[in-house]
Amino acid sequence: MTSDEIRKKFLDFFEKRGHKIIPSSSLIPENDPSVLFTTAGMHPLVPYLLGEKHPLGKRLADVQKCIRTGDIDEVGDYCHHTFFEMLGNWSLHDYFKKEAINWSYEFLTSPEFLGLDKDRIAVSVFAGDESADFDEESFRIWQEIGIGEKRIAKLPKKNNWWGPAGETGPCGPDSEMFYWVGDSDKIPESFNDDNPLWLEIWNDVFMEYNKNSKGIFEKMERKNVDTGMGLERLLAVVNGFDDNYKTELFWPIIEKLEELSKFKYGDKRDIEYIKNDEQCWVDTRKYFRIIADHLKASVFILGDEKGITPSNNGQGYVLRRLIRRAIRYGKQIGIKTFTKEITEVIIEIYKNAYPELLKNKNFILNNLQQEEEKFEKTLEKGLKEFEKGIDPFILFTTYGFPIELTEELAKEKGQKIDLEDFHRKMAEHQKLSQTASSGMFKGGLADAGEETKKLHTATHLLNAALRIVLGEHVMQRGSNITAERLRFDFTHSAKMTEEEKKKVEEIVNQKIAEKLPVNFVEMPRVEAEKIALHSFNEKYGEMVKVYSIGTDGNYFSREFCGGPHVLNTSELGHFKILKEEAVSAGVRRIKAVLD
Ligand code: SER
Repeated sequence: MTSDEIRKKFLDFFEKRGHKIIPSSSLIPENDPSVLFTTAGMHPLVPYLLGEKHPLGKRLADVQKCIRTGDIDEVGDYCHHTFFEMLGNWSLHDYFKKEAINWSYEFLTSPEFLGLDKDRIAVSVFAGDESADFDEESFRIWQEIGIGEKRIAKLPKKNNWWGPAGETGPCGPDSEMFYWVGDSDKIPESFNDDNPLWLEIWNDVFMEYNKNSKGIFEKMERKNVDTGMGLERLLAVVNGFDDNYKTELFWPIIEKLEELSKFKYGDKRDIEYIKNDEQCWVDTRKYFRIIADHLKASVFILGDEKGITPSNNGQGYVLRRLIRRAIRYGKQIGIKTFTKEITEVIIEIYKNAYPELLKNKNFILNNLQQEEEKFEKTLEKGLKEFEKGIDPFILFTTYGFPIELTEELAKEKGQKIDLEDFHRKMAEHQKLSQTASSGMFKGGLADAGEETKKLHTATHLLNAALRIVLGEHVMQRGSNITAERLRFDFTHSAKMTEEEKKKVEEIVNQKIAEKLPVNFVEMPRVEAEKIALHSFNEKYGEMVKVYSIGTDGNYFSREFCGGPHVLNTSELGHFKILKEEAVSAGVRRIKAVLD
């Protein structure tokens, strides 16, 4: 079955069941500053899920192009991608679990549609916890369909819950469908969520709760269904491939890469690294997959008619990273320049389903080629600096020179580089840029840990308190937060006295006791610079987010920051400084906790 056939079958199936077909929205969300890209089919529909009337009615279906960079480190395996297409059907306060589940099952298994083997299907439902009930209804519906109890897993929120899209809003339990992709003589009787051979293929979300500002899940009158099924995985499963990259949506790219490189997909690359005195070989599939995935995502971002080009912020920054990462992996399998050739292949695959790619072909090609040339220059410059013996961290941050290349060069010259030192400096650097551009590599729906969120808000209070106690010269130099503690580096030349530390603690705890609201606004950078604290070694976009703590006109703190934060300082508990020490000349470090 081809991808065109699957798209068509899906849309026809739901059209026959009263759904109106809507076109894919842009990859760049409109009017939604909380995310850089459309990460799921539900994204462009959020206003309608919240109750606004959709002009086409209450039943919708579509194929939505999506980009998720939250999983970027998983790309390289057989089934994760940054760019993918999501098939979805929606009920806006219309049908609910019974119809949605029955239709999902029918579409998957009926010979008229996908005709998947019923024996290889397993499902999961929400188990219930102190905040929301066990989804018994879905469980029963699956039983009625004929799925045995051993094939219906009851799983916690972590697995079987979706949303809300922001801090508050519609959300609910979901029911996921899995397909056994292992050998046919090894199909297990029971479903086991830990076994990757049970591949998740479809997710039916039942939005029947609203998470309110107190964090409470209230049952909603208004119930929606949001389903999402990844096309690439489905295509592989339907055609019996154990690897999405072997499907027609990727294979022509892989073949072209084979032609351009010294390797075949799956060859073992020469010694990759030496670990505990053992030579480790690397499976080249990872390289092929990352290049194919990243260039495909780049072609779609450039082809999206929003004029996004590689840059140092926002969507442009993600685009730049994707392209440069692809080029870097290309070099590792011996490919020199290739973006033009691969782009041609990608456009060929998608030109019917997404005509915008063909229409914007020149724009896409020009930008990819330019970025390839720019990166080439960066590498050349970096190489010169490397020869001068510059610190790998400076090479990376100032010249964009990848650490892997530094390592390779050092190895060739028989030099050693201090990786530990590099990673330590990187961790601090990243924390710093994350506060400025958080979310860049995350989907907007990613949920930040509660503890880190609290400590993040406490860090803003600490920053403001230090400026009161020590003086306005105090500037943030670095910040690192784990679930247990915060660490904050700032400019100040003397060791803090016991009284100073006590005073800072008192102020922070006072602000917690005052139950101050935490809010953010988006504003032009030039305006924001006049009113809010920001870092001087950071590049910000034209529009920035400013987080404030306090009430209108009476703010205790205002900082450039990507969030996330708690909603009110009353959530923080008791603030305590554990340690105050020097990091380098003129820079001090505080470690603190919230009990
Ligand atoms: N929103 C859900 C998902 O992305 C279902 O579409 O998985």
